[in-house]
Amino acid sequence: MNKNSTNCLSIFIFAFTITAFAACSKSSSSTPILPADMCAGKTILITATPEATQHCSNDGSINIAVIGSSNFTYKLNSSGTYQAASKFTDLSEGVYTVFVKDGAGCEKSAAVTVGSGGTIGPLFTGMKSLVNTRCKSCHNSTLANGGMNFEIECNIIKNKTRIKVRAVDEGTMPQSGTLPQSEKDIISNWINAGGTYAN
Ligand code: HEC
Repeated sequence: MNKNSTNCLSIFIFAFTITAFAACSKSSSSTPILPADMCAGKTILITATPEATQHCSNDGSINIAVIGSSNFTYKLNSSGTYQAASKFTDLSEGVYTVFVKDGAGCEKSAAVTVGSGGTIGPLFTGMKSLVNTRCKSCHNSTLANGGMNFEIECNIIKNKTRIKVRAVDEGTMPQSGTLPQSEKDIISNWINAGGTYAN
């Protein structure tokens, strides 16, 4: 390194301004200077506002506001893809990492939790207890006949159409025999009301 470039480097470190950097670049034509960290001086601040999802339905969202730079793009989790919109929708409950990147490529991330909203409704309460008594012995985490594990309550909601077909319309579930009408009604009433956690 020649004397000139050493001076320049000092100027850059102590002054730490774009101007100093530009001056350095010009005067040190013989010895290239490492590119400055364009992101070091920035204070990018993320405010991520989650909206809860109703339990078992993927209708949560995260709204992102950022200050400290400009031309931001937004990404959800490290596996995501950067996009222009600052809102992510159709999210299930859980912990997410939001990433933001400014026009110069400076990136920042923050963790945010999408909570679970809503309380369990009376029809789904009845449905759960029916499935516990009539179906769970053959549909649980160790024995999931036909791929159905009803120990996870969200699986009851997710598979409600097949449950109705087998246990109400066809009457082929439980395997041991058709349900009495009063129990078929528990299934039908819940599904007719919307078949959600809150029903
Ligand atoms: C005695 C064991 C047993 C009980 C009790 C039982 N099932 Fe099943 N179920 C099975 C077996 C075995 C299969 C896989 C073979 C088949 O599809 O018939 C199955 C498959 C299923 C499937 C997946 C196949 C499809 O058609 O999509 C659904 C849904 C289902 N059962 C619903 C229920 C419901 C609802 C109940 C309670 C009302 C119930 N089962 C009770 C044994 C049982």
